[in-house]
Amino acid sequence: MARDSVGNTMLVAAILCVVCSVLVASAAVGLRGLQEANKQLDQKKNVLIAAGLYDDNENSLDEVDGIFSESIEPVLIDLETGELADSEVVDPATFDQREASRNPDLSQAIEPSSKLGGIKRREKYSFVYQVKNEAGKVQKVVLPIYGKGLWSTLYGFIAVGADADTVEGITFYQHAETPGLGGEIENPNWKALWKGKKLYDDPTNSQKKVALQVIKGAVNPDSADAEHQVDGLSGATITGKGVSQLVRYWMSEDGFGPFLDKLRQSAEGDSDG
Ligand SMILES: Cc1cc2nc3c(=O)[nH]c(=O)nc-3n(C[C@H](O)[C@H](O)[C@H](O)COP(=O)(O)O)c2cc1C
Repeated sequence: MARDSVGNTMLVAAILCVVCSVLVASAAVGLRGLQEANKQLDQKKNVLIAAGLYDDNENSLDEVDGIFSESIEPVLIDLETGELADSEVVDPATFDQREASRNPDLSQAIEPSSKLGGIKRREKYSFVYQVKNEAGKVQKVVLPIYGKGLWSTLYGFIAVGADADTVEGITFYQHAETPGLGGEIENPNWKALWKGKKLYDDPTNSQKKVALQVIKGAVNPDSADAEHQVDGLSGATITGKGVSQLVRYWMSEDGFGPFLDKLRQSAEGDSDG
């Protein structure tokens, strides 16, 4: 066959295609383990950020595994009861929470779905990350949260104190909001505004409501509601509403409410005893 014949050109193009696709496919398969490991490292880092145990300016990624294993105890709970999940039903070692939210056996319908920005199902079980002091008492818990912003699903963690009412930190690690507008949910200065805010209108009342919300504009520090309010992000009112809604959902009886009630009771028991 002549070098510049049509047949030869097609043959070279076909060989090139096969070689390239094999290279791309093997890179994708070969790097999958590394990608998974990086994803897990990022999750751990964000749990630590919410708990106030990691700062991008002071710590390095090499420290994440060490700090995490020293200070965090992950447990898998049944959201409906707030109790530890039955390990005969779900194994914490293999439980994939994102996957579970799509699995009909491991998830339940959100009714109405407008409670969480149109998300139709949520997982029945969730990891909670406990931060304990030297005496083994829970100081705070880090809870995974998600909901809809303007363009995307926002994934984050919120840390709540042992009183089950005081916010200790918040972080968002995955979203596709506009940089500079909704994307400001990642801004450390904005996240810092959440520390010390109170979740509930009347924390010990069984009829309590989640009162914490992102408002439009700046919080008036003299207002009676200031402890339940966080400054809005300018030009991102819709993302802010999404954050308020997801905090309301996950902190209510629909989400971590039963678990937080148990945490509060156990903290009260400790202080009585
Ligand atoms: C290109 C573009 C990107 C935007 N991205 C966001 C966003 O990420 N989050 C958001 O809430 N609003 C975003 N908006 C603005 C909304 O459309 C809406 O105007 C805004 O939420 C109103 O907020 P404000 O009352 O604080 O100005 C965007 C607008 C444009 C034109």
